[in-house]
Amino acid sequence: MNDFVFHNPDRVHFGKKCLKELPNELLKLGKKVLLVYGGGSIKRNGLYDEVCTLIKDNGMELFELSGVEPNPRHTTANKGAQICKKEGIDVVLAVGGGSTIDCSKGIAAAAVTDDLDVWPLVSGGVWVTKALPVVAVLTNAATGSEMDAWAVISNMETNEKIGLGGSALIPRAAFENPEWTYTLPHYQTACGAFDIFNHVLDNYYLAGDATFDLLLDMQEAVMRTVVKWAPVALKDPKNYEARANLMWASSMALNGILDGGTVHFCVCHMMEHELSAYYDITHGHGLAIIAPRWLEYILDENTAPAICRLGVKVFGIDAALDSMTGAKKTIEALENFCFNTLGLQSNLSDLGIDDKHIDDMVSHCCGGRNVPGIKTLTPDDIEKIYRMCL
Ligand code: NZQ
Ligand code: ZN
Repeated sequence: MNDFVFHNPDRVHFGKKCLKELPNELLKLGKKVLLVYGGGSIKRNGLYDEVCTLIKDNGMELFELSGVEPNPRHTTANKGAQICKKEGIDVVLAVGGGSTIDCSKGIAAAAVTDDLDVWPLVSGGVWVTKALPVVAVLTNAATGSEMDAWAVISNMETNEKIGLGGSALIPRAAFENPEWTYTLPHYQTACGAFDIFNHVLDNYYLAGDATFDLLLDMQEAVMRTVVKWAPVALKDPKNYEARANLMWASSMALNGILDGGTVHFCVCHMMEHELSAYYDITHGHGLAIIAPRWLEYILDENTAPAICRLGVKVFGIDAALDSMTGAKKTIEALENFCFNTLGLQSNLSDLGIDDKHIDDMVSHCCGGRNVPGIKTLTPDDIEKIYRMCL
């Protein structure tokens, strides 16, 4: 187990009545609030009215930026940064899913720069230590952005989708009422669920030789939670327990607790961000197509025991099986979960993706270097995995 520092300053308000604390959290940060949201789901489900009323009734001044895209663009973040500068905004309030929260983080970071442009920060890999404060009202259980230090921003002109990180990007407060996710479409529920699962899976094997059992057990608990509750939420979208378990699993998967003593490295995520950058697909769906193929590709005598452990602990595979047989059954179970239980289409061709951009995606993903992980992958390996997904 490696040494580590854990610090997460985000105050999470969780549950049916949590929004009543929103004015208190905002007023700690200032009175001029920029409300950021997406394509209108919050207007349709009533959350928009509720938030606006709370802000206005408590003496705050409200400004708005709507229309944040799924896979949020740097240009939208820059628009928000300009509003912040012009109006002297004190706090950026994201109400939505990961895209809205990420865009808000991009706004918050760009707003304190001279040129009000987020892209040099993103493309320059700048670790953001100065930004306007962000508060998140979460409507989708998926990305973990509500509690983490990351924002993923896309530049569609250059086909780049890159993570912007920084301690200043962790929301100061997050609000999580599982009822807000009742209106999520079936597809977004499925994609979000797999995103949560994959945040842990991408990190799982990097814990090394299992000397840190606490960490592995916690990681497995999050993945088991997704496997248990996602099908319930899909069948019964207003099942509070299912939505609540998924929502908290979303936050737990990336809030830093599961990184303790290990290295966070995300091969499936690196590969998926290239797919979104070129084809603007839904993040969790791309991951569901890649993850089983990645496991299949890396399976050998060395990796079989770890893959088998995943099957035993998360999918209930028979622990008495030899590790190679158990690992193969694990991959079958994962495919069954992604493509039958969650109902996601299994190939890139189903999303209209062919091999046209594979060379570029490999080169962006690897940057000419090998990708570390339970098994180190060369650019050639990454290309083969993409081809297995076609
Ligand atoms: O835009 P609106 O109208 O709000 O509709 C959204 C959008 O169409 C809709 N939606 C969200 N909550 C809803 C709802 N519809 C009805 N009822 C609700 N309660 O769902 C659609 C997708 O929303 P989006 O925010 O794009 O989804 P998600 O939360 O999955 O976020 C995806 C983005 O986050 C990035 C992804 O790459 C992608 O760009 N990620 C961010 C991470 C981070 N910050 O740490 C890590 C992740 O690995 C991921 O990369
Ligand atoms: Zn993700």
